[in-house]
Amino acid sequence: MVAGTVRIAILGSGLIGAIHAAAIAEVPNAKLTVVIDSFEERAKQLAAEYGAVAETDLARALERDDIDAVHICTPSGTHAKLGTMVAEAGKHVLVEKPLDITLAAGRRLVEAGESHGVKVAVVFQKRFTESAQRVHEAAQGGRLGKLIECDASIKWYREPKYYSDSPWHGTWAMDGGGALINQGVHMVDLLKWVAGPVRTVVARRRTALHKIEVEDLIDAIVEFDNGALGVIQASTALYPGFPERLSIHGSKGSAIIEGSDLVQWDVQGEPQVARAFGLPTGASDPGAIGHRYHVPVIADFVDSILQNRPPMVTGRDALDTLELVMAVYKSAQERKEATLPLPPDWRPGP
Ligand SMILES: NC(=O)c1ccc[n+]([C@@H]2O[C@H](COP(=O)([O-])OP(=O)(O)OC[C@H]3O[C@@H](n4cnc5c(N)ncnc54)[C@H](O)[C@@H]3O)[C@@H](O)[C@H]2O)c1
Repeated sequence: MVAGTVRIAILGSGLIGAIHAAAIAEVPNAKLTVVIDSFEERAKQLAAEYGAVAETDLARALERDDIDAVHICTPSGTHAKLGTMVAEAGKHVLVEKPLDITLAAGRRLVEAGESHGVKVAVVFQKRFTESAQRVHEAAQGGRLGKLIECDASIKWYREPKYYSDSPWHGTWAMDGGGALINQGVHMVDLLKWVAGPVRTVVARRRTALHKIEVEDLIDAIVEFDNGALGVIQASTALYPGFPERLSIHGSKGSAIIEGSDLVQWDVQGEPQVARAFGLPTGASDPGAIGHRYHVPVIADFVDSILQNRPPMVTGRDALDTLELVMAVYKSAQERKEATLPLPPDWRPGP
């Protein structure tokens, strides 16, 4: 490390890699030094934009002495394999969501981080929004009373070309599933963070609209450890795409988040809140989120390295989220109730 600055390499310079580059530029104590992509032109283009060096191979890049941390921005099915290489090289890892597409691979990455003494943080940017932090604190601190019903829905739309133009979107091999593990995982993580661990799941899935091998629609009823019930809905088939929604209902009141806005806060004895700021969501267009949500995630990751403390979202947190995603898939696939914890090597398929 050079005098309180974390030198970062971005691995994967596609849609989200470019968002990371823009966000890093706004984080004090962070400097983008290297961009790595097996597609050389893409690496060179993003590197040139930010005054970084381009590389095409992770193993070679890890021999450089100007990288303290690597952001894994490659297709989801590569996260754990590439992240583990980074951890084994003694460098910190910030992984894009999901942690990986299987529990076994995700666990290997978490353990590699622990055994090599490096941070493994995961991008679940929704946890950093003011609305999510407020509702998390209220739900966990008892301000909403006893939790009764906690729902997460992500009724989004993706154009057919989102799948047909990408070598990995909508594939079991690299996306690991469809609307749930790719888009819905943000809300699954938020729901679990706000309402606590889930005990059982009953789910159904469909490929309702797109010509893909994975689901573009999935619905689940969940039962939380604390006794509350809830519903998870995830889709990329619902034109034109609606802001994702978290609804938390307790015995003393309710809080509803739409997109990143707290649109309703109705708690007995407290002032009512009903407001919307119109912050961007990815409801219809994956690029529409811009880089503003990634800035606090990267700032927290950089601070966790400089202050040697755990990041806000650890690899273990993301492993729990992945297990809940897998439980929804297991129930839908087997058409019966799934109970957590799951068998450690369970993975979904057609
Ligand atoms: N946090 C969010 O809101 C958010 C939004 C979009 C995507 N993502 C996640 O980011 C990841 C990447 O998604 P994307 O949309 O940017 O994908 P993308 O297809 O646009 O980009 C992936 C890039 O990785 C490169 N690549 C693949 N394998 C590589 C390897 N072994 N070594 C070097 N480069 C390699 C490809 O050439 C490509 O440029 C996914 O896991 C996705 O789930 C997160």
